[in-house]
Amino acid sequence: MRFTVAIDGPAASGKGTIARALAARFGFAHLDTGLLYRAVAARGGDPVEAARSLTPADLERPGLRTLAAGQAASRVAAIPEVRAALVAFQRDFARREGGAVLDGRDIGTVICPEAEVKLFVTASPEMRAHRRWLELGGDEAEVLAQVRERDRRDAERAIAPLRPAPDAVILDTTLMSVEEAVAKAEAIVASRL
Ligand code: DC
Repeated sequence: MRFTVAIDGPAASGKGTIARALAARFGFAHLDTGLLYRAVAARGGDPVEAARSLTPADLERPGLRTLAAGQAASRVAAIPEVRAALVAFQRDFARREGGAVLDGRDIGTVICPEAEVKLFVTASPEMRAHRRWLELGGDEAEVLAQVRERDRRDAERAIAPLRPAPDAVILDTTLMSVEEAVAKAEAIVASRL
């Protein structure tokens, strides 16, 4: 069976948690596509070259989950040749036998416009910053400033900007617990299987 769940949304919206939960519940493979851009930025040197020669070991590097790594990822992600180099891998992953969940910024719009389920997971910037701050610590106001900066860069870039696909289901998790958000997403997938 081939079945793709495309999940997009801004930083710290809860899309990663939802993607992992759906993969576990339905037995799908999961790809956190943000990790690809984080790994490209972490390699240093020419980002286009890094994207073209990315290996699974690059995704295991320590430090890929930090705020700084996210900011660096957001910068290299605006380079068209970097995005182009990562398309085939993501599309192959999406159509693998047994079903797949991919989460990112452009999965429903560019990578898998034919996905069986498209979710756009969002939440207010304040709530997303609060969640990231609980996870990583630091100064909450600074975390909020970084969240806003990354939102702006991801949404305003010329290529594959962050936006919901026209047929995506919008899931606003601002006032939802993790359990509620996961339950809603599970119900949507179950209804399409
Ligand atoms: O989801 P994340 O925070 O790990 O993503 C890090 C950055 O990578 C994000 O700010 C923008 C970029 N990204 C992207 O452009 N397209 C994707 N499909 C996933 C991430």
